[in-house]
Amino acid sequence: MTNVIEGYLGKRVDGKKSRLPARLDFIQSATGLFLGLFMWGHMFFVATVLISEEALNTVAGAFEGSFLLSEKQPLIVSFIVFAVFCIFVIHACLGMRKLPINFRQYQIYKAHATYMKHSDTSLWFWQAKTGFILFFFGSAHLIIMMTNPTITAEISGGRMYGNFMWPFYLILLFAVELHGGIGLYRLCVKWGWFEGKDAKETRKKLSKVKWALTAFFLALGLVTLLAYVKIGYKYASSHEQHVASVTQTIDINAQSAEDIK
Ligand code: HEM
Repeated sequence: MTNVIEGYLGKRVDGKKSRLPARLDFIQSATGLFLGLFMWGHMFFVATVLISEEALNTVAGAFEGSFLLSEKQPLIVSFIVFAVFCIFVIHACLGMRKLPINFRQYQIYKAHATYMKHSDTSLWFWQAKTGFILFFFGSAHLIIMMTNPTITAEISGGRMYGNFMWPFYLILLFAVELHGGIGLYRLCVKWGWFEGKDAKETRKKLSKVKWALTAFFLALGLVTLLAYVKIGYKYASSHEQHVASVTQTIDINAQSAEDIK
């Protein structure tokens, strides 16, 4: 009954407001922090391919329990991806609450941002746009990894080059790095982390650190993407050569059989 009364009047019988929105905000921040830090770890993980194919295969094997089990178990990776996906979905659901839901709300936001010329307000809109892209691209990537949990440089390269998924990864990379970078910066500002004595000065410094980190992870991501495409190309052309030589052998054998006849 309390909820129904609050639903109509916006207040409870005791005059207080629900604490649920604050709790939801906290959960959104916590899931965002987890995903942001996870992405940094993830980028270093996929970048091990820059050391060597073997390095990536070894790290990926460790996720499949190679150091504990006698045989690798890709299901462990599926389970980890499922857990990340659940957190991703919770974060997206809570993020949806903040998006403008009709033209009027969008107009108010735009007028506000234009009038204030406040960089953090403009950044917020970039976070909303990239978040929207992640609804689709992030989900697709996670579902692919959940259902194809064996990770090797050859398989990943094949996806990037052979399955022509590099444009997909390029968009995902920019969306996730901008979204994550802005998100972590906003978390620091919102919860007053590293605030110190002069909040304005801290904000300026945080903004610089944010752009430096975004530039670093974008550069690392782009070089890594290129490495996967190269590996995919290498395996695709050696596969083509193999097919060509097998076809040639079959032709020669067929010719010899004809000659004998
Ligand atoms: C546990 C969950 C995850 C696993 C196991 C995983 C695994 C991988 C792997 C193996 C690749 C290399 C390409 C491929 O094989 O398809 C990759 C690339 C990538 N992933 Fe994930 N991923 C996970 C979660 C995420 C999430 C949540 C995001 C962001 C929404 C993300 C964004 C990316 C991006 C942007 C790339 C391209 C990296 C680059 O260009 O350097 N991944 N991921």
